[in-house]
Formats: sequence, structure tokens, C-alpha cells
Amino acid sequence: MLFRSLLASACTLGVFGAATYKFVPSRIQAAFLHSVERKSSLVDLINMKIELLPALSDNYMYLLIDEDTKEAAIVDPVEPVKVVEAVKKHGVKLKTVLTTHHHWDHAGGNEKMVKLVSGLTVYGGDDRVGALTKKVKHNNTFKVGSLNVTCLFTPCHTTGHICYFVTKDNSSEPPAVFTGDTLFVAGCGKFFEGTADQMYKALIEIIGQLPPETRVFCGHEYTVNNLKFARHVEPDNEAIRKKLAWAKEKYSNGEPTIPSTVGDEFSFNPFMRVREKSVQAHAKKRDPIETMQAIRKEKDNFRVPKD
Ligand SMILES: *[C@@H]1O[C@H](CO)[C@@H](O)[C@H](O)[C@H]1NC(C)=O
Ligand SMILES: *[C@@H]1O[C@H](CO)[C@@H](O)[C@H](O)[C@H]1NC(C)=O
Ligand SMILES: *[C@@H]1O[C@H](CO)[C@@H](O)[C@H](O)[C@H]1NC(C)=O
Ligand SMILES: [Zn+2]
Repeated sequence: MLFRSLLASACTLGVFGAATYKFVPSRIQAAFLHSVERKSSLVDLINMKIELLPALSDNYMYLLIDEDTKEAAIVDPVEPVKVVEAVKKHGVKLKTVLTTHHHWDHAGGNEKMVKLVSGLTVYGGDDRVGALTKKVKHNNTFKVGSLNVTCLFTPCHTTGHICYFVTKDNSSEPPAVFTGDTLFVAGCGKFFEGTADQMYKALIEIIGQLPPETRVFCGHEYTVNNLKFARHVEPDNEAIRKKLAWAKEKYSNGEPTIPSTVGDEFSFNPFMRVREKSVQAHAKKRDPIETMQAIRKEKDNFRVPKD
């Protein structure tokens, strides 16, 4: 796998003021990030190319390119002008918008996106998604060029959240999954519209069943803070310590900590590890779903340490 850093793209808050949005991430964290330029990067494989496009203060948009047909899809295009620039740079045909959920910092660019590029099909699992043209359900499939996309219904953060699993037939390359605000590297989204039981299904029974080499592309750059919480839950977990040291280094250079893999998440993500004795002991629970509930609640009130 080849990772290439491309043009550094400055992080701007763009034209969509944050004032009306309820789920704006911590501005304190954002302020720190603003001291470093956030760089885009390219995960460049033979069949599938994925460009990470930083957006807003800590979001990611992903340009997914099918190398066979030069067709492309964009995941959560909250800053459509940046998307158009990336599409031009790669000389590809943008045909598809994949929306993970209706929150403003993910779906808020859809209306403008369809004005800038004609003929787009906009996928999503929720009527609250702007410019939606195809509402999808669990297991629905469609193509982006020669790539197969399968929709994974993962309600909890929002009732209509969809993750998109992308494979290429007869390819030895690992698949990709775009997890929005359901699974983050070393964390998971808040349970705004759902329960611990639903998040357990999403993380363990749906995403957790994908091939372990599946690359995880999530909605936000939250990795460092997530790992500090993970370390609090499991102070003796070596995988967490290693990943945290690595992520701090990346973050301080403005580089993405994404993608991870499904297999790796099982080694350091406390929400993927709710069946482990160590995590259950920390939560003082014996049941994985009760553990999920308890550590989510704890994280909602967690004061992230400086180091
Ligand atoms: C989804 O599709 C797979 C394979 O096509 C099938 O095994 C599975 O039962 C389906 N799940 C649901 C919930 O429809
Ligand atoms: C991919 O899509 C094609 C239809 O275009 C289908 O025949 C094939 O079974 C799909 N592959 C997978 C792994 O779902
Ligand atoms: C994948 O390989 C199978 C068996 O070798 C073949 O039948 C099928 O046509 C191939 N699919 C594509 C899309 O190349
Ligand atoms: Zn969200």
C-alpha cells in the first residue's frame, strides 16, 4: 500500500458558519488543530484510489476513484468546492455522493454539490439528508464504476446512519469501509438517536464481521483523544500505547491518522473491545452491551489529559 502526501490544504471553517449546528466538535480541540495545517493524502492502490480531503476543523471527505473506469464517488462532501478541485486534479468523472448521515458537517454540502456537478446520484439512509435521490437500506448494493458498494445500516448516532463497504471483484486489494460517525479510529460516535444495543450491533455484528484487512475511513480526526480515553480504560494495553505514540506524531505534523483496519480496531478501540475482560472490569460490568453503555457514558464526560 502506498501513501503519498499531496498538496497541503489549509483548514478553513468555510462558508457554512457553525452557529446553527448542534453537534459542533469541541472548539478547544479545533483551536489546537488550527495551529497545524491539515494535509490531504492519497491511498493509492491498483484498482481503488481514495483521497482524504480534510474539511471544516476535523472532518474528512473521501474521494473514491475506480481506476478501471475513472468514475468517482465522494463521501460526505461538506465543502463542495474542494471536491470539485480534487475531481479536476484527478481527471475523473464524479457521479455519486455517499452520505453517511444527515448531520450538517456531513450532509450540509449536498445541495451545493448537486448544483456544482450535474447528474449526481445522492445516496443516504435518512429523509433528512439534503438533495437525497436514492434512499438506501441495509444490504442494498450498487456500483461506482467497477467497484461494488454495499450499504450497511448502522443506526445509533442517528437513526438513519449508513456505512458504505466497497470491494472490487477478483482483486487482492483490501476492501474499504466508510464509517461516518459510527466507528472512529479508537472510538465511536455519540448515541444521539440510539442505544448501546444498536452500537454493539453496528460495531461488532456488522462492521466487525467485515474482513479484518478492511480499511476504515471515518468521519473525523479524533484519533489522539480517542486513544487517550482508550488508555484510561486499559492502561496495560500495549497496542493502545503504540498507536497513541504514532497518532500524536502524525497529528502534530498535520497528517491524517486514517485509515486504520477493522482488525486493528479490535486491538485498541475500547468500543470494539466490550467483550474483553479488561474493558468489562473497568466498566464494572459483565455484559458487553452494558459495558458499551457504561464506557460511552464515561467518555461523554471524560476530561482529555494533555499528554
Ligand atoms: C445481506 O446479504 C448477505 C449476502 O448477500 C446475506 O447473507 C445476509 O443475510 C443479508 N442480511 C440481511 C439483513 O438482509
Ligand atoms: C459485484 O457486482 C456484480 C454486478 O455488477 C455482481 O455480479 C457481483 O456478484 C458483485 N460482487 C460482490 C462481491 O458482491
Ligand atoms: C471474477 O472471477 C471469476 C472466476 O474466476 C469470473 O467468473 C468472473 O467473471 C470474474 N469477475 C470479474 C468482474 O472479472
Ligand atoms: Zn454526526
